[in-house]
Amino acid sequence: MIKQAIIPLAGLGTRLLPLTSVFAKELLPINGKPGIEYILEECIDSGIKEIIFIISQKKKIIKKYFYNDQFYKKIIKKKKDNRIISEYKKILRYKKMIKFVYQNKPLGTGDAVLKTKKYIKNKYFLMLLPDDLIIKKNCSKSMIKIHKKFNSSVMASMTVKKESVSRWGIFKFKKHLDKQNSLIDDVIEKPSIKKAPSNKAVIGRYILPKKIFTVLSKQKPGKGGEIHITDAIQSLINNNENFIAHRFSGKYLDCGTMNGYIKSTLKISKL
Ligand code: G1P
Repeated sequence: MIKQAIIPLAGLGTRLLPLTSVFAKELLPINGKPGIEYILEECIDSGIKEIIFIISQKKKIIKKYFYNDQFYKKIIKKKKDNRIISEYKKILRYKKMIKFVYQNKPLGTGDAVLKTKKYIKNKYFLMLLPDDLIIKKNCSKSMIKIHKKFNSSVMASMTVKKESVSRWGIFKFKKHLDKQNSLIDDVIEKPSIKKAPSNKAVIGRYILPKKIFTVLSKQKPGKGGEIHITDAIQSLINNNENFIAHRFSGKYLDCGTMNGYIKSTLKISKL
């Protein structure tokens, strides 16, 4: 059963500087709503009961967004505005589900995952990377179904332009299971075009096994001196853990760059 999700939020957001020098990119509005709320809705709609936010001291504003009760109470006392009341209720509902852990040094996604070790209860858990929005079809929900069917780890995948392989984790198939799902043979973090085994990329939704913590706690830093989740996944594959690449049917929106972020707002506003 997948009941817990983790969301790494401690990244520096360098692709969105200078905004991110003072603000958390995950709170930037996409068509009027903070990006992180789209991710929360995806989790809740797919049956997740507890969500672990990995933040840093520098990104405490994210915690404040959910813990600003005094502020709301004062305003609601003064003005009985229905919109504010329902927004506050929504925030309270989210707050009940969220736990915060800290990653104060940006040592990579794998290191962020490791910070959640003592909170993960079941054999598998979900991870969502907040730069990647997937709209129109709930990707996490589909992946949970695939996980149940094959009882294995799952990652979201998409075909990308050959010239852009060095932006992504890139993998090679071992075997096709059905139209949308294949077993992964190899996965490599941000390879050069020359070294890329394909142009199939990992997108930020993962169903990971709890045993990944053992791998991560022993893992040496990889590319750019960071602990990559992709390297831990490759170690697990080498140790016979099945990883399925799920070619999702929703629409992918890249909210990690200014250009992608603006396009995302336009796309969502037209839905
Ligand atoms: C991360 C992962 C990468 C994956 C990507 C999806 O990279 O390390 O393997 O393809 O997310 O968005 P990042 O976006 O943090 O650079």
